[in-house]
Amino acid sequence: MSNAILESYWMPFTGNQDYKRRPRILTRAEGHYYWSEDRRRIYDSFSGLWTNGIGHCHPKIVEAVQHQAAELDYAMAFQMGHPRIFELAARLKEIAPEGLGHAFFVNSGSEAADTALKIALAYHRANDEVARTRFVGRERGYHGVNFGGMSVGGITANRKIFSASLLPGVDHLPHTYDLERNAFSKGMPKHGAHFADDLERFCALHDASNIAAVIVEPVAGSTGVLPPPEGYLRRLRELCTRHGILLIFDEVITAFGRVGAAFASERFGVTPDMITIAKGVTNGAVPMGGVLVRDEIYDQIVSGRGENVEFFHGYTYSGHPLAAAAGLATLKVYDEEGVFEQARVLEPIFEEAIHSLSGHRSVIDIRNIGLMGAIELAPQQAGPGLRGLAAHKCAFWDEDLVVRNGADTLQFAPFLNSKPDDIYATFEAVRRVLDRID
Ligand SMILES: Cc1ncc(COP(=O)(O)O)c(C=O)c1O
Repeated sequence: MSNAILESYWMPFTGNQDYKRRPRILTRAEGHYYWSEDRRRIYDSFSGLWTNGIGHCHPKIVEAVQHQAAELDYAMAFQMGHPRIFELAARLKEIAPEGLGHAFFVNSGSEAADTALKIALAYHRANDEVARTRFVGRERGYHGVNFGGMSVGGITANRKIFSASLLPGVDHLPHTYDLERNAFSKGMPKHGAHFADDLERFCALHDASNIAAVIVEPVAGSTGVLPPPEGYLRRLRELCTRHGILLIFDEVITAFGRVGAAFASERFGVTPDMITIAKGVTNGAVPMGGVLVRDEIYDQIVSGRGENVEFFHGYTYSGHPLAAAAGLATLKVYDEEGVFEQARVLEPIFEEAIHSLSGHRSVIDIRNIGLMGAIELAPQQAGPGLRGLAAHKCAFWDEDLVVRNGADTLQFAPFLNSKPDDIYATFEAVRRVLDRID
């Protein structure tokens, strides 16, 4: 590819200058592998970008999308509908936690987060609690890159240059990472339920009657996999209920089998008022996001408005037919192939494999839950992030392996239908990478 062509594309969340000096180009994918421009077969240790839990180009999803593209490419999204999107909403209701029976569709996780925040405001207004406008997020949280999600999110690099333009009226719970007490935890760390208690402080400070919603990822993903401490999510739920605050779980990563159940809410036995989804809903094949909403919230906003539009929100591509077809096909495969159960069976294998790297001289922590895992590397003397990036590049060029790094944290999202030997082979390759890059 010529330099001119490489230069035209401004790549997201990528060091453009560095990347374009030696581009890592993927040209094809099938099952658990990509193929690179130089015709190597590359194993994907990250299921796309947490997206493709059942592998790439699943034939049933490909077929459904191809068929849909030929039958109905687009249907006006406002004041009109098409069958597949209603079917998808109904199907999601069947697998969602009890009571979350309504789905609002968007096109990404970022849009899902902002939509959930707007629904929270609309609900309180409809409920005559107009003062409930404040939001509570969490340090190190990631809810995408739109202004709402960024404001409640807590990843410094993503917020830094937008600081003055973030939403007002947002507080952040402390993150739950406690390296001193929880290093090398397997599954949920023992310590840290008390990190939820800061919500009480915000209620005391602002008065709870001003707080609309709390939004957290049940397992913080993008910051480098922080499983919730034991009892933490339950405590958050109790506090929200006590104070009339809506609880939103951002399950863009954790839904659809990533933690061995349809939703993390099911796995952890805690039901929020709204769940945001994206990624796995279409197995990454077509962009789609959504918000699953508790029935009472929907009823409160929608009922009694006659013929008028009840909620002034939506996107041209909300409920796009191709996404709906991909979503229906994906959910069918999850069900027919017992994918969530497979993920559950793989969890101890993955746990053993990832923790086999504890004791490596570059590794300062390892965390895992479900099929989500992270290896925290000590930063190199030359600066933070360099060791992680070097590992990503070395894995690609020398081990035919895609490994995701967020700064110095290597992140892993094995396929929900992985072969155990591939999981073991992944971490043997990662060990060789770490030995090499030093
Ligand atoms: C928890 C969570 N929320 C929101 C998003 C944003 O999703 P998108 O990149 O589709 O906008 C992500 C993306 O990784 C995520 O992990």
